[in-house]
Amino acid sequence: MSSINVDVSLKGSLKDADTLRDLAEIEEMDFSRIFDRPPRPLNMDRQRSCDERSLSELSAGVTIPSPRPSSRIENNFRLFDHLNCSSSPGRRSGFNTPISQTGVETHPTMAEAWEALRRSLVYFRGQPVGTIAALDNSEEQVFVRDFVPSALAFLMNGEPEIVKNFILKTLRLQSWEKKIDRFQLGEGVMPASFKVLHDPVRNNETLMADFGESAIGRVAPVDSGFWWIFLLRAYTKSTGDTSLAEKPECQKGMRLILSLCLSEGFDTFPTLLCADGCCMVDRRMGVYGYPIEIQALFFMALRCALLLLKQDEEGNEFVQRITKRLHALSFHMRSYYWIDLKHLNDIYRYKTEEYSHTAVNKFNVIPDSLPEWIFDFMPVRGGYFIGNVSPARMDFRWFCLGNCIAILSSLATPEQSTAIMDLIESRWEELVGEMPLKVIYPAIESHEWQIVTGCDPKNTRWSYHNGGSWPVLLWLLTAACIKTGRPQIARRAIELAETRLIKDNWPEYYDGKLGRFVGKQARKCQTWSVAGYLVAKMMLEDPSHLGTVALEEDKQTKPLIRRSNSWTF
Ligand code: GLC
Repeated sequence: MSSINVDVSLKGSLKDADTLRDLAEIEEMDFSRIFDRPPRPLNMDRQRSCDERSLSELSAGVTIPSPRPSSRIENNFRLFDHLNCSSSPGRRSGFNTPISQTGVETHPTMAEAWEALRRSLVYFRGQPVGTIAALDNSEEQVFVRDFVPSALAFLMNGEPEIVKNFILKTLRLQSWEKKIDRFQLGEGVMPASFKVLHDPVRNNETLMADFGESAIGRVAPVDSGFWWIFLLRAYTKSTGDTSLAEKPECQKGMRLILSLCLSEGFDTFPTLLCADGCCMVDRRMGVYGYPIEIQALFFMALRCALLLLKQDEEGNEFVQRITKRLHALSFHMRSYYWIDLKHLNDIYRYKTEEYSHTAVNKFNVIPDSLPEWIFDFMPVRGGYFIGNVSPARMDFRWFCLGNCIAILSSLATPEQSTAIMDLIESRWEELVGEMPLKVIYPAIESHEWQIVTGCDPKNTRWSYHNGGSWPVLLWLLTAACIKTGRPQIARRAIELAETRLIKDNWPEYYDGKLGRFVGKQARKCQTWSVAGYLVAKMMLEDPSHLGTVALEEDKQTKPLIRRSNSWTF
């Protein structure tokens, strides 16, 4: 363990730690300070970058002098170094490395997981370019979103090549002309997945991408482009190699993705309007509208792009647009998606049909639309970002991915991040149960299930996306736990998963209120279940990996005054 973020004085005790509990205590003391380390006494003032520059400075058009004409990206990422969050390259937790550097015995499940992850590699013309979704008998399909935890595992293990290959190959696919029936999709759309086609006659290999035209339900992979930008930043951060992001084609790829989601239209909200099935929840599940899963990823991608864009003429234009959008998006999300006991009570007492700027109930939500379950679910301490907000519609369901990404991207304020973790702790049985982690809570059933899912037999209550438990989410939970200084929560969840994952052969998801059963139609040997577990373990073992997946708070973003007037964040 490089334990970069652990004080030198603590390192000795860390080495001596003979139990995980000791380690946990040390982590408890230190994790919350990961992003608060003082900068090294370098020329940091002169190298201030977007990381330090507040969004307000950027929008005011203040230009910060660069020490040399070279790469702004390099400066952005050099600046990250002072956070002491860059992970040291080199293999650490790989399956050839059974003893971790903390001196703590690596769990046997890790060795199995590494073996499974390596078996899932997909090669194109001799180079690894991704990982297969599941090592059952299905096609060799590489899903963009599924590859994210695999990519992180390889980055954290000091093997960045495959990630670079993946980024470049998917970039080539982005430039394809994409059509669904006779309709041409936007230039920047990134594929949902691709596969390698082997032609034995010509002894040749080609890539075949899917942009939704062959997906069940023809769903649009809105999340793919955001994950792509996130991975580009993760790669750059983890390796220190800025040359990939600086490539003109990568800059262009980013700008194309951004053009799609920053375009102006009829919208009255800064959030992104999406059809159902636009993310990990890729079937009809009532996610349409402005789903938290996408909004949080959108926010994350915008912040990553801000670090990666070059300050040339084209780049600058996007920096300005992103900055404006981030301001509006964070205000909207933090104000209107946030719910806790106090806010729930406010909604419960809402007046309706309010006109004009003075309206408190801006979206005209009818209190009767509050679902029964939320009154019991809401703890005294804690809160979360709800699933969706649009006119007269609030989807109060809990979405795990969106809330974790909100913490990692600092869309959530520090107080909100703490409240989300409080909620997870107080609603452990509901959200973690016997197998981490509920993708959505609660499940919908009966008539509501018929209407919302269109009678989808795969999405019966507490199964699949309708309240199923997905081990892949472990990496997101763990990163959020580390960022909020509560690694013991992640450890508890990981220990639960470790009792089952190998025995059950790495299922895609579990079913039931407590996640007790292997999912009805769950695929086995699902790669992102394997990789999600590995990333979670590696981050707990070496919390400095957090820097690869998380962004620190923009300190100068002003706290918001809630519309209830009574409290602030
Ligand atoms: C399922 C999941 C989707 C995932 C795909 C490949 O359809 O819902 O999120 O990308 O499988 O594993």
